Amino acid sequence: MKVFINKRIPEIGIKMLEDAGLEITIPENDNLSHEEWLSYCKNTDAILNVGNHSFDKDFFEQCPNVKAIALYSVGFDHVNIKEANHRNIPIGNTPDVLSKATSDVAFLLMQSVARRASYNFQKVKEGNWGDFDPLHALGQELYGKTLGIFGLGRIGFEMAKKSLKAFDMSIIYHNRSHNEEAEKELNAKYVSFDELVEQADVLSIHANFVPEQKDLFNNLVFERMKPNAIFINTARGGFHNQTDLYEALVSRKIWGAGLDVTNPEPILKDDPILGLSNVCILPHIGSATIEARNGMAKVAAENIIAFSKGEKMIHCVNPEVYHN
Ligand code: DGY
Repeated sequence: MKVFINKRIPEIGIKMLEDAGLEITIPENDNLSHEEWLSYCKNTDAILNVGNHSFDKDFFEQCPNVKAIALYSVGFDHVNIKEANHRNIPIGNTPDVLSKATSDVAFLLMQSVARRASYNFQKVKEGNWGDFDPLHALGQELYGKTLGIFGLGRIGFEMAKKSLKAFDMSIIYHNRSHNEEAEKELNAKYVSFDELVEQADVLSIHANFVPEQKDLFNNLVFERMKPNAIFINTARGGFHNQTDLYEALVSRKIWGAGLDVTNPEPILKDDPILGLSNVCILPHIGSATIEARNGMAKVAAENIIAFSKGEKMIHCVNPEVYHN
């Protein structure tokens, strides 16, 4: 079976695929144009995909030979699942192995924004350390505050656990369904979306992105957040309206924002939000640890190997294909 990997992944995954006797293609140039990428996809049975190439209707129509796709990500918002289902194509993803790393970044951003780390580092870089000043550059403490999680799944759970243990924060959350484990272990309280927005001192997004939720966090929402609230997004940039977020930050409707994802991505160099002192922005590094990336390579390879043996993928986002 032919497997196309569009970008080099950690060796552990490649070795697993080779040991399974699969015929792997990895292009020398891993910065393929859309046309180049598509032409590799047209000539393969399975794809191990790194990045956010769009697997839309047009893709499936142009690549009728593709029988399976293993994503090197937990997110699958770039795949048209309906079209994949229609063609019985299983889509694999890599949950669990990156939950700790990604929640670490949310936790880091929360603290960084609370203590104004980016602003202070910038001052140091500019040779502007300054004298000890009882009134300047004051952050806020997180002890006993309320963490609101939008989308309490595996990553949200880890973020909530860390925040509870480190800062004794109360956890509230809004989800499609109740997370009983979080309610039992972390005393997390299910609230309505409005309550989440109005009660959270830190609001952190950990949901899967769907197009219906584009710009869900917009001016109307920022208006209702507490003035000391910190907005954290490590999920997908599409969740927030960046212009509205900028306005909310400039006018101090909220305290600050920590983003590992932006809208668009990469962020434009001249986006005014980059000039603000109450933001910390990272370039989508949630899963960027050696441990998580090795884990993702292993899971993605396992998914492809399972498919090659006619078995169910270990982590499949559209298991309904197995019942067709
Ligand atoms: C994921 O795994 O979904 C990360 O955000 C990388 O895309």
